[in-house]
Amino acid sequence: MSTDLIIAPSVLSADFSKLGDEIEAVIRAGADWIHLDVMDGHFVPNITFGPPVINAVRDRSDVIYDCHLMIEPCDPYLEAFADAGCDIITVHAEATKHLDRSLQAIRSLGKKAGVSLNPSTPESAIEYVLDRLDLILIMTVNPGFGGQVFIDAMIDKVARIKKMIGDRPIDIEIDGGVTPSNARALMEAGANVLVAGSAVFKGGNEEAYRTNISAIRDACLKSA
Ligand code: DX5
Ligand code: ZN
Repeated sequence: MSTDLIIAPSVLSADFSKLGDEIEAVIRAGADWIHLDVMDGHFVPNITFGPPVINAVRDRSDVIYDCHLMIEPCDPYLEAFADAGCDIITVHAEATKHLDRSLQAIRSLGKKAGVSLNPSTPESAIEYVLDRLDLILIMTVNPGFGGQVFIDAMIDKVARIKKMIGDRPIDIEIDGGVTPSNARALMEAGANVLVAGSAVFKGGNEEAYRTNISAIRDACLKSA
């Protein structure tokens, strides 16, 4: 995949009463991917949405729909998320007993396979599945809610994972508390996809989204 910076706004911070319009607006404002946070009230202490909602907004854009499953178990639902139109399906290493099998299942559905690690999960959890991965999502807050404070210790983890993947074509995605102030350090540590919810959707209109996305991009460009 590309090494250019990809910005993936999390619709968790969008106005759900007009989700399709919000997706169109944030893409016009400069978003590259759409990040979809699926929560089950079991693996994480919050509930969001599932395949029918994703399916309902799928035709609003042909950009990559990046689905972050915070559900346990995940295997029984992979096909439904694939059918709903997700392009990347990411499961949590902590939420599946057989991670290798879950990743194979995602690829066999014709989708890109991602794994996510909670802040406290060491990178060794994915050492033996690297060849099954298209994306690694590093949680930089504890999953469950938008608007939390970035955990600084995760910068070192990003650098370790970047080293660990070597020259494999795996995207490194950061999720949680991303702002213009930490974007540059994250990119320098090896990230190429930044998820941002509150930092993108604050302001509540397309013009604000454009300003917010540009602020993240500009912060990264200054490091080049
Ligand atoms: C948290 C979600 C994140 C979250 C990011 O569990 O996975 O995608 O919405 O929101 P911010 O950018 O506000 O931390
Ligand atoms: Zn997420």
